[in-house]
Amino acid sequence: MERTVSFTLNGTETRMRIEDHWTLLHLLREELGLQGTKEGCGSGECGACTVLADGMAVNSCLYLAAEIDGKTILTIEGLALPDGFLHPLQKAFVERGGIQCGFCTPGMILSAKALLDENPAAEEEEIKNAIAGNICRCTGYVQIIDSIRSVSGKAEEKVKVVAWQAGEDQ
Ligand code: FES
Ligand code: FES
Repeated sequence: MERTVSFTLNGTETRMRIEDHWTLLHLLREELGLQGTKEGCGSGECGACTVLADGMAVNSCLYLAAEIDGKTILTIEGLALPDGFLHPLQKAFVERGGIQCGFCTPGMILSAKALLDENPAAEEEEIKNAIAGNICRCTGYVQIIDSIRSVSGKAEEKVKVVAWQAGEDQ
């Protein structure tokens, strides 16, 4: 069956027809061409497909597209500012070697964002728990955790986040 869903996608009000059996991952990648969200296992095991739904990290491969009606969806494409300024988490991953092949990166960063939005001064154990569902096949966890820690709980990084949100130069 088909239905119409209305949702906010990366800041843009969106309304479209979907098939009931579509996953959010299918909707994003195949119907909307947003290929930053990756498909790894397709069964909720790897976290590569993580996006934020109303601020919560979800596995889009298990999330039915029909469930996004009325929700706010954020994918990695919506994280940097339109003029190209990276979110502090993206910047930290680039600068601290948190990215190797990059396949897990969008999911890692969005899981980290969900954590830091809720708990801006998250400790290492909380960071590890937040990304427990995100698998990095390049085994870059040390650099990944270091990247997230560099943004968490540091006054100067908070200033950068505020500046980023205000669209100011960093
Ligand atoms: S592709 Fe969704 S959890 Fe692996
Ligand atoms: S950087 Fe390659 S899977 Fe994580």
